[in-house]
Amino acid sequence: QVPNGYNLWLNYSQKPNSSIIKEYQKVSTSVYFQNESDVLNVSREELKRGLKGMLGVDVLFSDAISKSNTLIIATKNNLHQDIQNTLETNYKSIGDEGFIIKSIQFKGKQIIVISANQDVGILYGVFRFLRLLQMETDLSTIHIIDSPKLDLRMLNHWDNLDRTVERGYAGFSLWNWQKLPDFIDQRYIDYARANASIGINGTVLNNVNASALILTPMYLEKVAALANVFRPYGIKVYLTARFSAPIEIGGLDTADPLNSEVQNWWNTMASNIYKAIPDFGGFLVKANSEGQPGPQNYNRTHVDGANMLAKALQPHNGVVIWRSFVYSEHDVTDRAKQAYSEFVPFDGKFMDNVLVQSKNGPIDFQPREPFHPMFGAMPNTNLMMEFQITQEYLGFSTHLVFLPKLFEEVLKADTYAQGKGTTVAKVIDGSITKPKLTGIAGVSNIGNDINWTGHPFAQANWYGFGRLAWNPHLSSETIADEWLRATYCNNSKFIEPVKNMMLNSREAVVNYMNPLGLHHLFDTNHHYGPGPWVSNLSRPEWNPTYYHKADENGIGFNRSSTGSNAVEQYANEVAHVFNTVETCPEDYLLWFHHVPWDYKLKNGESLWNGLALKYQEGVNQVSQMIATWNAVKPYVSEAEYKEVDMLLNIQLKEAKWWKDASLLYFQTFSKQPFPKDIVKPE
Ligand code: GCU
Repeated sequence: QVPNGYNLWLNYSQKPNSSIIKEYQKVSTSVYFQNESDVLNVSREELKRGLKGMLGVDVLFSDAISKSNTLIIATKNNLHQDIQNTLETNYKSIGDEGFIIKSIQFKGKQIIVISANQDVGILYGVFRFLRLLQMETDLSTIHIIDSPKLDLRMLNHWDNLDRTVERGYAGFSLWNWQKLPDFIDQRYIDYARANASIGINGTVLNNVNASALILTPMYLEKVAALANVFRPYGIKVYLTARFSAPIEIGGLDTADPLNSEVQNWWNTMASNIYKAIPDFGGFLVKANSEGQPGPQNYNRTHVDGANMLAKALQPHNGVVIWRSFVYSEHDVTDRAKQAYSEFVPFDGKFMDNVLVQSKNGPIDFQPREPFHPMFGAMPNTNLMMEFQITQEYLGFSTHLVFLPKLFEEVLKADTYAQGKGTTVAKVIDGSITKPKLTGIAGVSNIGNDINWTGHPFAQANWYGFGRLAWNPHLSSETIADEWLRATYCNNSKFIEPVKNMMLNSREAVVNYMNPLGLHHLFDTNHHYGPGPWVSNLSRPEWNPTYYHKADENGIGFNRSSTGSNAVEQYANEVAHVFNTVETCPEDYLLWFHHVPWDYKLKNGESLWNGLALKYQEGVNQVSQMIATWNAVKPYVSEAEYKEVDMLLNIQLKEAKWWKDASLLYFQTFSKQPFPKDIVKPE
């Protein structure tokens, strides 16, 4: 018996309803599955496992394609010529990783074919096929032609070598360095299955605040063992490279990227890594950010640093992912402007195998931020998205927050960079500027908790990230629907209310933590509870008071043209809208403006009353989530019900804590009574 939550969305224990299960059993009677590579092997095993679980059938695979087949799974070149001809036009559009699932006529019979150009496409096709069954999809006219829209679809683990996880709230790191390379935990395989099922094709194993030790032979042997496990699942391994590694483990006295000894050291390092891991993905680098070493320590630039590493990796087809998350203590006028100021001037200067990875917003993974102005502003750079799946600023693994709603908001934002419709999704999928490489990364929320992510619903955030990495144009509603059906059941009495709860959960957390564009009001270091009053930290931009700037006149950070002018970093059309209080969307009002307490909001309330009501709305939304979960109790097990119920009750307590603490503090500036519709803070 597998413990609750372990199987994630790969739950094959639900039987499809009685009318459709017969159709599925018929499709599974005679299966041909091409079987001559590791990738195809694991795909075939997954199909077997899924069909056994859902349909109760032990599939017998036929040795060759024949007219008795009801399901045929093979890459293009291994298909019967008639089938190849039928699918011919589809192959062109799916590239190396895409697949076709189609109901076709073969030898006078209706059959299902899963095909692809490459083995990895079959892997993705099989996982999709299994999900279609999980979702009780009618297969009689099925016709899916799909392929990923981004090249690099990655998880970033902020895992330390001692197995603690920076900003990890689901236990310790999965990677058991002490037992590797010889001990292969089953979890490594299940981790790879889960990722492959949503199309993730890369994983950075170690923290961006990296130890150089990961690059020593002892650790590389362990990394190679993990790479061997992940390879059949289409997943490449990447490592965070500490920029000062040549000093720390190489015995050099500098890490200057223009120094030839340093360059040689990295070239040799790259060759050694590729000897052990021939398909190694490359390096992720956090440089000159929050105390991490980097090229600026030697008066060199980000380009000098990134290109030096890119040259070392280029002969092996590796890439460098250079993070843009930088802010310096020397220019504290507006932290939100710094990454753009440091990076945009270098547009076009990075080598082709460098990707610049930018967080979704200009500060730091807040419950809501406007999109990062770098998106659209570097048309000649491979610009990659970094989302945070782990909920550093969103209640850890204790609060239920469905993040695809946040991701979708960012991806749909219009940068206007190349005219109307240049959404962030189109910037990163490369459809407009055609960069050499495209990518997206999610900071993982995975640990060794039994259910992987701590909160059962946090699994949906891992799932949703993967689905958006595959297709950044998907809707969060589709994702919630898929995840619920694949994880729980297809009963609409369960699905509809719970989906609604998920879709509203992100707005709830914004309301009870950071409404109307407020941000970074978290208590020091842990970022869990409220700390809007904190003002004594050594760097001004670490203090919440720096961000809300509340005083007797009002509240908010003036980033308009009369203030820090951060608006200027956006395209004119966007800057124009953000720049005035009247046109700025209220979701970002206090992000861009310092607004008087008696300013009239669109709903007619004063800012003070409106703010208080937003906090209250957040609390009410969590109460509603609890009511929803109670109402669907009959559709889940007692244990599943209890776990989420307890978590939601903590969330409610803490939503009130946020509301009360924030309002009592802000009231010391507004000096106004609370509006009558709010529950008085205690
Ligand atoms: C945040 C987070 C750090 C992390 C950093 C980063 O500041 O709190 O723990 O290292 O982001 O993204 O590099």
